[in-house]
Amino acid sequence: MSLLIRGASQLATPVGTAARRCADLGTLTVLPHASVLCEGEAIAFIGTEAEALRRCPEPETVLDADGGCLLPGFVDPHTHPVWAGSREEEFNRRLRGESYMEIARAGGGINSTVRATRAATPESLLTAALGRLDTFLAHGTTTIEGKSGYGLDLETEVRMLETIRAADAAHPVDLVPTCLAAHEVPPEDREHPERYIARVIGEIHPEIARRGLAEAVDVFCETGVFDLEQTRRLLADAPRLGWRIHLHADELTPLGGAELAVELGALSADHLVYVTDAGIAALAGSDTVAVLLPGTSFFLRSTFAPARRMVEAGCAVALATDCNPGSSPTQSMPMILALACLEMGLTVEEALTAATLNAAAALDRANRFGSLEPGKAADIVVLDAPSYHHLVYRYGVNQVRHVVKNGRVVIADRKPVH
Ligand code: NIG
Ligand code: FE
Repeated sequence: MSLLIRGASQLATPVGTAARRCADLGTLTVLPHASVLCEGEAIAFIGTEAEALRRCPEPETVLDADGGCLLPGFVDPHTHPVWAGSREEEFNRRLRGESYMEIARAGGGINSTVRATRAATPESLLTAALGRLDTFLAHGTTTIEGKSGYGLDLETEVRMLETIRAADAAHPVDLVPTCLAAHEVPPEDREHPERYIARVIGEIHPEIARRGLAEAVDVFCETGVFDLEQTRRLLADAPRLGWRIHLHADELTPLGGAELAVELGALSADHLVYVTDAGIAALAGSDTVAVLLPGTSFFLRSTFAPARRMVEAGCAVALATDCNPGSSPTQSMPMILALACLEMGLTVEEALTAATLNAAAALDRANRFGSLEPGKAADIVVLDAPSYHHLVYRYGVNQVRHVVKNGRVVIADRKPVH
């Protein structure tokens, strides 16, 4: 299988196989008029069209970028892509003044999605997830992390992770599964959170690991959900189960989740709206990626994570949608880039690296995804715009025209290719 992408105005990409920091975060390689030759699932060559054709005189497929800009496919390292029901009424209540936590404590929030998800059939969960993956792909995202966490019992957590596995097999977007059984205390254990924690540690985590359904584990470490000490216990077995760690940290209150994530050697600490100076210093001195979710701040009308301070301190900053029905119902990484630039002060170059290479590093996949370089996966976005700046400059408009995933054209002229 060979594919030549020709006719581009420019190719813009970070380079490397590890997260970039400080000034390197904003350093892109920009090649005017570059062509890309893909062989099998990987990029074989980047350079002039003439040289690409010398190496492969008759490519099986030729994609004309028609003056567009080539970018790496986006990697979205924090999503909750499987759920049933929707929460647009809670959204309207929030617009009238109720807070996210007030709604959650009154029986809405995560537990309202838990009720709907427990009642859904496997088929309807898969259909809904695949529809969301179509939207991710249409906006240029080629790899996502996907969490469980709307089951909060063994049966439904397993069903969610099986849905993620089935969606990964059925759809061009790659999914990386995370067990988030500790997303909330389920309604039946509301008065006895320790009972649920014991079940997660003693039953749910071991059984999901035994079935090989996740490669990482996550906990919603937050005031009123799981505190630091409970989170520590919930994550103690991760190494023995063969799991890497992500952590919902310092989202609504400054609890010290960032420091705990670093102490546990987590792949990522996510949200970090209320990260403390000590948390920033800990992250900067570690390999734990700081995954920022400005769509959630925007949608909850809260403050934004201190992204500039984190970049300047040397944290490995990445971006994600947090796609979920309660606090960020979007699949659009370009929208997240716009918020990262306009509300958190990142430059377009920094935001692009954060949404590609650094996002791949948050999933321990920076050797395969996140940049356009020979040997990496041929996951490529062709914009309907002559330079990468347009991606943020023309915010709120989908400028993704073609998408290549693993060397195959999967979106052509904005339409899925089956
Ligand atoms: O990342 N913080 C916890 N979990 C989600 C919200 C999920 C929901 O409201 O359904 C988040 O914001
Ligand atoms: Fe989340």
